[in-house]
Amino acid sequence: MNELDSIVDSARQAFAAAATPADLENAKARFTGKAGRITELMKGMGALGVDEKKTRGAAINLAKQAIEAALADRRQALADAELQAQLKAEALDVSLPGRLREPGGLHPVSRTMERIELIFSSMGFDVADGPEIESDWHSFTSLNNPPNHPARSMQDTFYVDIKGDDGVAYNLRPHTSPMQVRYAHQHIKKHADAARAGAAMPEIRVIAPGRTYRVDSDATHSPMFHQCEGLWLGDNVSFKDLKVVFTDFCRTFFESNDLALRFRPSFFPFTEPSAEIDIQFQSGPLAGRWLEVAGSGQVHPAVVRNMGLDPEKYIGFAFGMGPDRLTMLRYGVDDLRLFFDGDVRFLRQFR
Ligand code: DAH
Repeated sequence: MNELDSIVDSARQAFAAAATPADLENAKARFTGKAGRITELMKGMGALGVDEKKTRGAAINLAKQAIEAALADRRQALADAELQAQLKAEALDVSLPGRLREPGGLHPVSRTMERIELIFSSMGFDVADGPEIESDWHSFTSLNNPPNHPARSMQDTFYVDIKGDDGVAYNLRPHTSPMQVRYAHQHIKKHADAARAGAAMPEIRVIAPGRTYRVDSDATHSPMFHQCEGLWLGDNVSFKDLKVVFTDFCRTFFESNDLALRFRPSFFPFTEPSAEIDIQFQSGPLAGRWLEVAGSGQVHPAVVRNMGLDPEKYIGFAFGMGPDRLTMLRYGVDDLRLFFDGDVRFLRQFR
């Protein structure tokens, strides 16, 4: 390799080794700068003869051009690298998911409530609402459950610091049954004018869904829970009607025509006779087991009297069921508390 070729070669190596534009400019100075090697060679040409000058000058020029070309390439490469680094540093991560507004949905128990209302409305039942802070008389006494009666302990409840006219503390209603008497009073008042004019009062047919409270807390009991009361009173409404209505309701609610129902004798102060209603699925994970879903019975004459009606003329049935329980059965949920924890990971599944 002649001298010029080796200079070009070492220039290329020096440029390649330069990691920054500043390094590169320093390297350049060693070759084509004022005291650079090529510049030195040019200066040394003064002593040469004319012909030699020509060939030597042309050769040096070629070497210089080669060095400048290598320099330009390296400059470009360094500039490209810098741009790439900058782009990378300022990169916008377009893969980050946006802040989505998830559509809300009805709570599973609200879905059940709506379903219950829809089914009973289609059977001609009115839907009524009532207070959750209730008087002692409405929650217990009017329902044939007098003070100090042991049946009151079936519904151990919360009391509030407000006393009624009777001097007895109000309670957070332990069941929706007070709505039986409340609704009957409203119904009688509503039809009072027509009754005075001699018209017969229409039958009472109502459901009353809502929140209820008891001193209870475990996997299947929550201090706040839901109930739905039902009442049908007329001049000839019997247990047979209760069976038809409730069977129809359960089969529609669970969309199962072969659902079996069992009326198991029980006790409630406000009904006589009384029965617990159990259901049995014929297929699915719960098939074959009897599951309690409601209390029911023929409305006790004392309760009919407290409604302001004559028990000789008015007869019928009532029931009280647990929409939370129905929701658990419908969706296969085994812990009631999940409904009231408010965890969206659970609730989202019902959207
Ligand atoms: N109130 C009762 C309870 O909470 C349920 C009940 C039973 C309601 C029988 C009724 C009925 O209307 O007839 O345990």
